[in-house]
Amino acid sequence: MAYSGPFEAGDRVQLTDQKRRHHTIVLQPGESYFTHKGEIRHDDIIGAPEGSVVESTLGEEYLCFRHLMVDHVLSMPRGAAVIYPKDTAQILVEGDIFPGAKVLEAGAGSGALSMALLRAIGSTGKLISYEIREDHLAFARSNVAEYFGHEPEQWDPRLGDLSEVHLDDLDGPVDRIILDMVEPWTCIDNVAELLHPGGVFMTYVPTVPQLMNIMEHIRDKKCFTEPRAWETLLREWRVEGLATRPEHRMNAHTAFLVWARRLADGVTPPRPKRRARK
Ligand SMILES: C[S@@+](CC[C@H](N)C(=O)[O-])C[C@H]1O[C@@H](n2cnc3c(N)ncnc32)[C@H](O)[C@@H]1O
Repeated sequence: MAYSGPFEAGDRVQLTDQKRRHHTIVLQPGESYFTHKGEIRHDDIIGAPEGSVVESTLGEEYLCFRHLMVDHVLSMPRGAAVIYPKDTAQILVEGDIFPGAKVLEAGAGSGALSMALLRAIGSTGKLISYEIREDHLAFARSNVAEYFGHEPEQWDPRLGDLSEVHLDDLDGPVDRIILDMVEPWTCIDNVAELLHPGGVFMTYVPTVPQLMNIMEHIRDKKCFTEPRAWETLLREWRVEGLATRPEHRMNAHTAFLVWARRLADGVTPPRPKRRARK
């Protein structure tokens, strides 16, 4: 899959019309895409530089760019709700996903997070993604394969329940564990067993009861640092001269992120000190 350079056959291209509506096509020599504004010939796009404008037979202009990962995630078919890009960005940085990392993920859901993790670990890393539902795993596999053009070699998608996974199943511990599931606390023993000392554990939970529950389970396990919890609020701005202001609408809530690191075996987490009240 090319990320830049002139358009090639096989590229997934997003066409944006003059009303900012998007149409996605896969370029094939000799093919055409038909809209109510006329026909767009793929051959008019193949070979053109990215960021070109193509005209339909009825004179409508379309701006052409390759599909970015965010475009793919927000438009692909879903079995389960996906992690939104603003939270994925947090997971990649706060979860310290590095090239060559061995990462364990569950559930794979629709494969949105898997894609971002696969890109971040690169060809020398390893991503093992557990998914308990066969239909969701099928969505994840086809979405990931469609984005990369094939299933990446460093990806190991597995049908199964993470709460039944042990060290032998993974050929040893992993560097990072990321959970996106309704009851992540049911897998906390497995996270403790499967994560290297110093490894980062993150989980994504939409509701306050889930947040309270996972925080308590992490603390009770006594083999993690004091967990952190936060949410990310993203507000777009309209920047147009004197009318510059925040957008009226925003996705105010997606989920909370929880983060902790695995302690060395036998170490008791130091109790966080709080200032005495006067
Ligand atoms: C919200 S979806 C995950 C979405 C995914 N992160 C994405 O970005 O596309 C949660 C998934 O976790 C799966 N799941 C729940 N419990 C599980 C478990 N114990 N082991 C493996 N998968 C599990 C569910 O079947 C569901 O597909």
